[in-house]
Amino acid sequence: MKSIASAPAKIILFGEHFVVHGTKAILAAIDKRVTVTSTVTETRTLTGTLKINSQLGTFEIPMYDDPKQSNFLSVECYNRCLSMIKSEFRPFVYLAGKMLDYARSSRGYPLNFDYGGLEITIDSDIPVGVGLGSSSACCVAATTSISRLFGRKLLSERMLEMSIEAERTIFPDTSGADCTVCTYGGMIEYPSIEKIGNTFDLNLLIANSMIPHNTKNSVEKVNKFKENDEDRFSQLCNLENGLIDEVIIAMKNNDTTTLGSKMSENQKYLEEIQVSNDTLRDMINSLNEISLGSKITGAGDGGCVIALVEDENMDKVPALLPKDKEYFSAKIDTKGVVWSTIEE
Ligand code: PMV
Repeated sequence: MKSIASAPAKIILFGEHFVVHGTKAILAAIDKRVTVTSTVTETRTLTGTLKINSQLGTFEIPMYDDPKQSNFLSVECYNRCLSMIKSEFRPFVYLAGKMLDYARSSRGYPLNFDYGGLEITIDSDIPVGVGLGSSSACCVAATTSISRLFGRKLLSERMLEMSIEAERTIFPDTSGADCTVCTYGGMIEYPSIEKIGNTFDLNLLIANSMIPHNTKNSVEKVNKFKENDEDRFSQLCNLENGLIDEVIIAMKNNDTTTLGSKMSENQKYLEEIQVSNDTLRDMINSLNEISLGSKITGAGDGGCVIALVEDENMDKVPALLPKDKEYFSAKIDTKGVVWSTIEE
């Protein structure tokens, strides 16, 4: 059996970085997806491996402590070797170890996993490292794909918890907001997970600076800002919460002008905590000429910016952005994580 799960990319409309320090945020799942397919290989060989295939490369490790014994590697073994594994493969190794451990402790070896190996394949149309939640979508899709392969039907809350644990193997400080929106889809307020109906008829333009970023480094930089000026950081957190309350009202009233201006206001807070740079500022300033508002989305220091653009202005976008930047108009995904199987 192939167990196939896919999860959407995301954008953060309001509240990135501050959300790590307990503020609210507004996020939306968008119409780009990662698909994770897991399947059992090499049944009854006792020499099976865990193999991970992705656009970033292939990774393979033995599944057993000792091929002469039918021992699955325990989650402790997986955890021990996690630090030696390239970060992009860690969540999959973590999840496989966790599910195997669970299977062993709860009901012996899983029936559909008879001393074999496990192969996990990742196909994605989400650009990596640019603030569109590629790693969160992978963690969410992998949790569903692998757990269902083992016949586990977890509650969506537990599934989300495990996805966040998996993401913590790459980025220990994650707020969990990204995995949450990838799981449930739609536009949500975080942490309440209340869905926000999207009635506004505007383009959510996403422009990629093509500068890869590192979320962990950007979050550490913001931690330093906080350490140096606790009072100002706390003021900014309060401002962000207040801004989000106003945004929710504007969205309910379909008040797109206020929505756009709040995006630009949020950008000022992101500038102050120093996660912007000249390239992002230039893109934002240009897009402000034709949009109701624009800002960084995600960790910043590179990655993407978003702008709220009316239909009649969409054709002006190419002239505003440097030739090396990519852009697209995102649609909101309402499905969240989805699962299917192929019997072989
Ligand atoms: O750039 P991304 O997709 O890794 O988004 C990070 C968002 C942060 O708020 C900076 C971190 C978090 O865990 O919420």
